[in-house]
Amino acid sequence: MKETKQKILYQGAEALIILKNKTIIKKRVKKSYRIKEIDEKIRKSRTKSESKLFQKASLVVQVPKIKKVDFEKKEIHMDFIKGKKLSEVLDSFKLEKQKKIFRKIGESVAKLHDHNIVHGDLTTSNMILFNENVFFIDFGLGFISSRIEDKAVDLHLLKEALEAKHFRQWKALFEEFLKGYSKSVNYEKVIEQLKKVEKRGRYKQQY
Ligand SMILES: Nc1ncnc2c1ncn2[C@@H]1O[C@H](COP(=O)(O)OP(=O)(O)OP(=O)(O)O)[C@@H](O)[C@H]1O
Ligand SMILES: [Mg+2]
Repeated sequence: MKETKQKILYQGAEALIILKNKTIIKKRVKKSYRIKEIDEKIRKSRTKSESKLFQKASLVVQVPKIKKVDFEKKEIHMDFIKGKKLSEVLDSFKLEKQKKIFRKIGESVAKLHDHNIVHGDLTTSNMILFNENVFFIDFGLGFISSRIEDKAVDLHLLKEALEAKHFRQWKALFEEFLKGYSKSVNYEKVIEQLKKVEKRGRYKQQY
């Protein structure tokens, strides 16, 4: 029998990312500090939740196609996106190109939010650029919510991630993101809430 090659691409806190042929396997690994039965339940429910979000998101934005979900093995099998992680390439592009990408990201996040999909971890490490298109990955912290607050926090986390990782041009990029995001039906409400979220953040830092 022909052996299929597989390679560990990434070992995160919770998951192992394996590349096998042209398939990415995101496998939630056992945590020995948890009681066995509870660990089993947690990994199963997170696998279920993330795969559901991938499916929902696939109707409105670009995400890797889910090929199979194995609840016993706690694995999500999806297409391997043969692009570059946005976090690794963004800074090397001319500002105009960076802005174009962020306007598109804004439009995509607006679509996700209009379908009540909150990503939960909007960083450039969770976006893959392939043929000028941004693919969203890692819905591990995502959830379904119609709350304006949850959507505002999603934007706040993106803003913080940009400030930390792409500090040279983060303001211009976030501005461009908002231009794209203004397509959301709740744009004004979310921005108003974002201001409140940020005030809260500053208050916390002071004391
Ligand atoms: N479909 C895919 N195609 C190409 N690369 C991928 C794909 N899925 C994941 N990767 C790579 O593996 C890395 C880790 O994946 P992911 O972000 O889903 O895991 P994680 O950050 O450990 O998840 P979690 O936040 O749930 O612990 C990504 O940053 C990316 O480089
Ligand atoms: Mg990730």
